[in-house]
Amino acid sequence: MAILRMENGQTLTDLGAIAAELAPLNIGLNHWSTGPEVKSLLDQKALTEDEKEQVLVGLDRYFEQLKADLGYTSRDLIVLHSDVPNLEVMLAKFDKVHTHADDEVRYIVDGEGIFGFVRPDGSQVELTVQPEEYINVPAGTEHWFCLTPSRRVKAVRYFAGTDGWTPEYTSTPIKFETLQTA
Ligand SMILES: [Fe+2]
Repeated sequence: MAILRMENGQTLTDLGAIAAELAPLNIGLNHWSTGPEVKSLLDQKALTEDEKEQVLVGLDRYFEQLKADLGYTSRDLIVLHSDVPNLEVMLAKFDKVHTHADDEVRYIVDGEGIFGFVRPDGSQVELTVQPEEYINVPAGTEHWFCLTPSRRVKAVRYFAGTDGWTPEYTSTPIKFETLQTA
């Protein structure tokens, strides 16, 4: 279940309370079941390309809905773990405050990741997103992303197009220590 950390160290786990804190950002946060069909694949640390496709097909009921409702056109599965070559280099692209021209849409299906956000009033929060949670970060939202010390996540990424995905860095400093170094 998602965990929201505030700058003052307070943590929230109630989805309603988290939604209220994220409301100024228009972030979408839903619980979606992965179901039993893909469970054994998700339990594996690493996946072959064929296995990734099996997972995607097993979860395409959500992609079909997003295509119909929001016009998304493609999806892929990102699998990160401690044995991935250059993992830290890859993660360093996203652990500074940035925006995208398109929405950042993720369905976490294994492991966990941390999304940090700069709210319109300048305050910052960090949201740990866990399995079976879908998040939609609207285009233009100042945010960052990192892994927890478990260094493991599987996430379906949904795209409306191939443009707009380059991170545009802002100069906003992150105000508090993140869990990635805990
Ligand atoms: Fe991002």
